[in-house]
Amino acid sequence: MAFELQGVGLTHGNGFRALQRISIRLGRGERVAVIGPSGAGKTSLIRLLGVTTRPSEGRLNVLGTNPWQLPAGELRRLRARIGTIHQAPPIPPRLRVITAILAGRLGQWPAWKALLSLLYPVDIAGAQATLARFDLADRLFDRCDRLSGGQLQRVGIARAFYQEPDLFLADEPVSALDPALADAALGELVAESERRRAGLFASLHAVDLALKWFPRIVGLRAGEVAFDLPTGEVSNGLLRELYAAEGGVLPTQASEPAPLHDGGAMAEAMAESGDGTLAANVVRLDSCRGR
Ligand SMILES: Nc1ncnc2c1ncn2[C@@H]1O[C@H](COP(=O)(O)OP(=O)(O)OP(=O)(O)O)[C@@H](O)[C@H]1O
Ligand SMILES: [Mg+2]
Repeated sequence: MAFELQGVGLTHGNGFRALQRISIRLGRGERVAVIGPSGAGKTSLIRLLGVTTRPSEGRLNVLGTNPWQLPAGELRRLRARIGTIHQAPPIPPRLRVITAILAGRLGQWPAWKALLSLLYPVDIAGAQATLARFDLADRLFDRCDRLSGGQLQRVGIARAFYQEPDLFLADEPVSALDPALADAALGELVAESERRRAGLFASLHAVDLALKWFPRIVGLRAGEVAFDLPTGEVSNGLLRELYAAEGGVLPTQASEPAPLHDGGAMAEAMAESGDGTLAANVVRLDSCRGR
């Protein structure tokens, strides 16, 4: 099992209840996308799973242990088994790309090797091979502040790959990439999690990418699980309800609407009813199902 949450809640210091009654289980090697409107609690949930925030209530098990009962050394080792991909990677701007990638294994290496890797790159070939999967092999010795936001985001994913974790957590990992690159990067992430049989739990802004790449979807709304279903059972009605606070408009990655004939009768009926934006989104979603 990758993780299990039972009745978990999170109340922030200011008294705001960001998460409540969360029960989700992720099996070993399973892939789940979490979607939901802005402020639903996706990042908060990923922080709980990455063991950077402690839940206010409920039971949390990550990679077979209750992390908050572990002594400091074991907690560090557990964190080294979790590869977190942040929306904006927390990489010091002056760091070189190679150092940022090698930092993925700092938690696993003995102190002497970790220290050495900061002074002299200890595994240039390994870092370069990882970066090549994101078409960035030629940027290995660049400083991170010379990269675009999208390039930096891919370096963040490469760093998590290099870490070789047992569980991937990804918080909007491709939000800074254009549609083609986002699709390719997500494909790499899915392939890597399959190859390693590592669980993958990713929050995604773009509903179409979630439906395309993940066999199971958790819909989060106002800090609660609205649904947790196999992708084939996530209806357009459920999706509209999830994004009701945003006018029922589903965020997608695609910049251009797909041709209307892809969408079927439901979308056409909505187009006739005057909800053109929604219809276009439903068409996009229908056209990416089952790919
Ligand atoms: N440290 C904090 N203190 C108080 N409230 C917080 C804190 N962090 C997050 N929140 C609140 O918790 C709620 C959930 O935030 P979170 O960042 O998890 O949402 P999200 O689903 O990731 O949103 P987005 O899609 O915009 O990234 C929001 O209302 C946010 O304002
Ligand atoms: Mg967020």
